Amino acid sequence: MVVGGGTVAQRRIPTLLAAGADVVVVSPEVTPAVEGMAGGRGTGELTWVRRGFEPADLDEAWYVVAATDRPEVNEAVSAAAEERRVFCVRSDDGEAATAWTPASGRHDGVTVAVLGNREPRRSAALRDDILAALRDGRLAAPHAHDRTPEVVLVGGGPGDPDLATAAARHALASADVVVADRLAPRELLDELPAHVELVDVAKLPRGRSALQEEINRLLVERVAAGQRVVRFKGGDPFVFGRGFEEVIACREAGVPVSVVPGVTSAIAVPARAGIPVTHRGIAHEVSVVSGHLPPGHPESLVNWGALGAQCGTLVLLMAVDNAPAIATALMRGGRATDTPVAVVQEGTMPGERMVWSRLETLAEDLAAGGVRPPAVIVVGDVVAVAAPDRYADRLALRAARRRARVSGGDDGARG
Ligand SMILES: C[S@@+](CC[C@H](N)C(=O)[O-])C[C@H]1O[C@@H](n2cnc3c(N)ncnc32)[C@H](O)[C@@H]1O
Repeated sequence: MVVGGGTVAQRRIPTLLAAGADVVVVSPEVTPAVEGMAGGRGTGELTWVRRGFEPADLDEAWYVVAATDRPEVNEAVSAAAEERRVFCVRSDDGEAATAWTPASGRHDGVTVAVLGNREPRRSAALRDDILAALRDGRLAAPHAHDRTPEVVLVGGGPGDPDLATAAARHALASADVVVADRLAPRELLDELPAHVELVDVAKLPRGRSALQEEINRLLVERVAAGQRVVRFKGGDPFVFGRGFEEVIACREAGVPVSVVPGVTSAIAVPARAGIPVTHRGIAHEVSVVSGHLPPGHPESLVNWGALGAQCGTLVLLMAVDNAPAIATALMRGGRATDTPVAVVQEGTMPGERMVWSRLETLAEDLAAGGVRPPAVIVVGDVVAVAAPDRYADRLALRAARRRARVSGGDDGARG
């Protein structure tokens, strides 16, 4: 039973729901978030009784949260709870309550709850420290299954160790061996305990498919030898990361395999550089495309002409070498020659640098800027939104087209 529907109640309710409680809120008014949890016509996660508190409300209650902003109401709730021998916490006066809420949080199936002698700030600070230590592996609480031999495919994010997920750090903390790609965040490898073996696959014998076969063989061999293997990759394992080939190889060999998704460079590198990949009124679509094969290559699976005919955002990975040919194909397909382009090299890493360009000058700008992989290339008017001073002409053109469309004088042409 939660009495009150303001922001204090709003903060308490999700934990109660997550614990499986049957939550009833009594309050004449509630915040929009609490109303959302109540849903319409009894379909919500909780029951909202839309009136003031009455002592009989507690007849069936197991636990009461008095969270109104009126001390006399909280006092009445507290007294009614005491009469019925129901534990009651009070948001306004911890001393007067029969129960206290610990500062709590969860990590990987473990609940941490801290009671700091009724010093809520101290409890919260200690709770945060414990959770941080669990998340980054300083405090180990291994599951039984953390020690079972398995391949865990881990996406480490685009480079900045802060963009690795808590799940990625947890997986690394439980590894016997880490098989790392060149683009996997290097700083996280430095945090591995000394007993963890690091296999740098960039150093395995060269040749693209031979290399992949060798990685697959290595993963299977190590698990068969009873080790827990983290296959550590940059970004997300399934975004041009050949991750699923490794999943298939493990399955074929009968080796257990699981996946920890990562923050992909396709979205995060532009975002960190201040470029949104979508923006209201500018781009209603975003395509993430590999540029490792040039347009017209017999093995290419990309319809560059169709991408040229679209007006949404294009995010190109592995495209530095083929960027001039790609720009030409996009313009041939229909993209305007002055379409803004931003190139972010080594995004989120200490060496991050940017080149601003347009489709028609991309080849020269990349050469003049000495751009090297890894780089993400963003094509489209979202780049103009991110740098309005550089691309004022594009924004003015769009605004003029929009005005013409609204007044019915233009066909809404793209470009
Ligand atoms: C083989 S793909 C792997 C992509 C990765 N799985 C992901 O989700 O980010 C490698 C390409 O990703 C892009 N990339 C990855 N990390 C990058 C970074 N920090 N800065 C710029 N581009 C990056 C580059 O285009 C690079 O050539």
